Amino acid sequence: MLYGADYNPEQWPEEIWPDDVARMREAGVTMVSLGIFSWARIQPREGEFDFGWLDRVIDLLHAGGIAVDLATATASPPPWASAAYPELLPRDADGSVFWPGSRQAYAPSSPVYRRLAGELVTAIAERYAGHPAVVMWHVNNEYGCHLHADYSDAARDAFRRWLADRYDDIGALNAAWGTDFWSQRYGSFDEILPPRKAPYSRNPGQVLDFKRFTNDMLLECYLMERDLIRAAGATQPITTNFMGAFEPADYRKWAEHVDVVSDDCYPDPNDPESFRTAAFSRDLMRSLKPGVPWLLMEQSTNALNWRPTNAPKAPGQMAALSAQAVGRGADGILFFQWRQSRAGAEKFHSAMLPHAGTDTRTWREVVDLGARLAALPGLPAPQPADARVAIVYDWENRWAAEGSDHPQNALDVTAVVQRWHRALHRRHVQVDLIPAERAGEYDLVIAPLLYLLRESDAAALTAFVDAGGHLVTGPFTDVVDEHDRFREGGFTTQLRGILGVDVEDFGALVAPDAPAAEPGERVAPFAGPFGDATGTLLAEELRVTDASIEASFTGGRLTGRPALTLREHGAGSARYLATIPDEAGTQALVDHLLTATGVEPVAVRLPEQVEAMRRGDVVTVVNHATGDVAVNLVGTDAATGAPVDGLTLAPYGWAMVRK
Ligand code: GAL
Repeated sequence: MLYGADYNPEQWPEEIWPDDVARMREAGVTMVSLGIFSWARIQPREGEFDFGWLDRVIDLLHAGGIAVDLATATASPPPWASAAYPELLPRDADGSVFWPGSRQAYAPSSPVYRRLAGELVTAIAERYAGHPAVVMWHVNNEYGCHLHADYSDAARDAFRRWLADRYDDIGALNAAWGTDFWSQRYGSFDEILPPRKAPYSRNPGQVLDFKRFTNDMLLECYLMERDLIRAAGATQPITTNFMGAFEPADYRKWAEHVDVVSDDCYPDPNDPESFRTAAFSRDLMRSLKPGVPWLLMEQSTNALNWRPTNAPKAPGQMAALSAQAVGRGADGILFFQWRQSRAGAEKFHSAMLPHAGTDTRTWREVVDLGARLAALPGLPAPQPADARVAIVYDWENRWAAEGSDHPQNALDVTAVVQRWHRALHRRHVQVDLIPAERAGEYDLVIAPLLYLLRESDAAALTAFVDAGGHLVTGPFTDVVDEHDRFREGGFTTQLRGILGVDVEDFGALVAPDAPAAEPGERVAPFAGPFGDATGTLLAEELRVTDASIEASFTGGRLTGRPALTLREHGAGSARYLATIPDEAGTQALVDHLLTATGVEPVAVRLPEQVEAMRRGDVVTVVNHATGDVAVNLVGTDAATGAPVDGLTLAPYGWAMVRK
């Protein structure tokens, strides 16, 4: 179990470093991520490297038994780089430059950025590939975090090349983008631009491909660095830190190329439900590389600096969220950062070693957690079979479904997926977040808002139902192909065989949070075996061809029409839901589905504020409630081996029990 933090020693005089190492040992730190923002110190000028200080700090850490996750330092080019090569600066869709003076001011597709980053990475990797302290490589930092897309001339040139590679022939691009609309037909790839600011709605195919391109440019930067590290002879695992359900980067594509998935996660202590959002991120990370433990690369020990209100964590909350990560598959708990900065934009951000010193609650909790994690024996790797339920979560679908000019322009795929996840989480059901092609590994698969549906994914969902799986899908599902074009034959063309349903109309409802003065229906009440529920945003008109009606709308313009259909198909079943249920409605539906499909929770008779999760034969329970909770788990304590026959958890208490 790794324990540690980002370590930024260059922010401190060298005399402090031995104290850092001594304190790290006291806290049980086993690894630090070093040099993430050190480009300016490692390479003070082009062609000139200064490794003396880095040698000394790495040797000091090594002598102290602290391993190093060595960064490639490419996330923040120093001022000399943009002064000499202003063309490496990124631009927004209006053409405004993102100037230096913060971090991440580089265009990912800029050839000069890539050259400079490559030279830096090679120098670092050649020097430290064989250093015994270095156990992992940390490429760049949070790719795309602040700069979700770049529209610069470098991006323009790269976009043209990327499109030429993808389509080969301009006619194929014209067909894919439907450019006969509004006289957008291109004569050659050289006429194409990124979707910069335009008078009105932009071509949806262009916008979708630009999202793919943006992801691919970031990924190319990562791959370039990874390959240079390997070319220098390094054999340690390589990672780059993800950010949960971050929109611009399709982490499923990235996960194939990292040796270990690592995640940065900052739940808001002011939100009493943020532990469920954190659980979602953990489940997503575990699902990205099935069967392989992941790392919580960054979290905070206490308050942040970047929310409007940066509340402290409650006593014990940091450890509870750490236990949650371990229970959901993490083999390391790390923080941003080791020692609180004394200057710069993050000086109020908490750290393992607070500016207020060691006589602090934060420090005591850091030391306690280090000891508790160190006492854990090796835990089993998360098993793909731990979860019997999956929710389909697909980045390309998200990009397309949230595009503009739709019947409902307030759709948030992640918010809907997270609502389903929360409802299952409240029932202590373990969930994976998967691409549709993995449906066959589960008993129950929920695929909400699968607007962009590839033929291969439709085939996988069909095979899943044929073979006995239970599918729940809809609304706004099976609407377009991978170019965001309608298919011939109406909607629901790929899944109507298993659903027995066609969608006639999407039936947009006014968003629940729209200004009060906006006229129109806001909710679509419906009722079924689960009782009464409320639908939002869409209330689709279905044509039921071969399915039974499980629930119907009970109010508004669709009164009496189907809201949820069910078709027994093959050895399984396929449900289509015509609306987006609110929180309570989603919960009611989940309860109904769990009963109907017989899916077992990880633990029974637990309050909603206690979460239970499975990692092989180890069940972790964490109490997020404000009072003591009795838990009826039986087994042995995963740390001590002592028998467990029921236990009581104090607020933010946690336990790991081997079944
Ligand atoms: C992360 C970043 C860290 C630090 C942290 C603050 O996004 O990787 O460098 O800025 O946020 O919460």
